[in-house]
Amino acid sequence: MTGASSGIGYALAAELADQGFDLLVAAENEEITRTPARLERPGAQVTAIQVDLTVPKEVDAFAERIMTLNRPVAVLAINAGVGVSGGFVQDTSLKDQLAVVDLNVRSAVHLAKLIVPDMVDRSQGRVLFTSSIAATAPAPFQAVYHASKAFLQYFAQGLREELKGTGVTVTAAMPGPTETRFFERAGMTDTKLGAGPKDDAAEVAKEVVQALLAGKDHVVTGSLRNKAQAVVGHLLPDRMLTAIQRRVSAPGTAKK
Ligand SMILES: NC(=O)c1ccc[n+]([C@@H]2O[C@H](COP(=O)([O-])OP(=O)(O)OC[C@H]3O[C@@H](n4cnc5c(N)ncnc54)[C@H](OP(=O)(O)O)[C@@H]3O)[C@@H](O)[C@H]2O)c1
Repeated sequence: MTGASSGIGYALAAELADQGFDLLVAAENEEITRTPARLERPGAQVTAIQVDLTVPKEVDAFAERIMTLNRPVAVLAINAGVGVSGGFVQDTSLKDQLAVVDLNVRSAVHLAKLIVPDMVDRSQGRVLFTSSIAATAPAPFQAVYHASKAFLQYFAQGLREELKGTGVTVTAAMPGPTETRFFERAGMTDTKLGAGPKDDAAEVAKEVVQALLAGKDHVVTGSLRNKAQAVVGHLLPDRMLTAIQRRVSAPGTAKK
């Protein structure tokens, strides 16, 4: 489980621990080393690894650690992700935008490529990608983040079809706005989206784990608004979707 130190990843890890899974939890900062104490349950062993997944060498070392445990991976949850809010040209740095690509896109492909083959060899496993409702619409001022989630969504669904009949399923989780550190970290608190109502991470995790263990292709979690957004995303042309998104994703819209 990547990105398990907080938010949706922590809630997913707690849900899986409740169900008796042993866990290997990973995140970038030192806080992850304190996560096992918060997650331990009778019958669920929790190990933490501190890893910066934006660094390819660290992804290799992380996968190596997983494989040398010599325990079959029942669930691979690729969840860690960050966003960046603001004008692509004037407000954001190249470093921050590339970190979104490196974490949300490149490390997801890298980790899947290193871990999924063993699951296929064993004809067993569940793979989860935390995509987002953001995958259903391009968004100005979060153009790279939404594109990263669209990538993950297509990657998950393509891989799922490819693995049909192997015993390994792939599920894309599509949460809507959820109460986590995400918005503050992405610099989104001055947007309508960042300041608006949010779903509870524990509730989101329950829905996701249920869909994951049932081998569903995707799950749109939380409120009816999210489910409606997923449908609208398939119906409207991109130029209309982006105009709608602008009203909630542009800096300063929180006050309007
Ligand atoms: N919150 C929402 O509304 C929402 C909606 C849809 C989808 N999502 C997706 O849900 C996922 C989890 O986000 P969240 O909302 O739970 O936010 P969060 O509370 O900020 O959690 C992000 C997690 O990712 C980890 N992470 C960040 N950079 C990393 C790196 N370089 N290497 C390894 N781990 C790293 C963080 O660990 P550190 O703190 O140690 O860096 C943390 O555990 C993301 O993929 C996000 O895009 C969120």
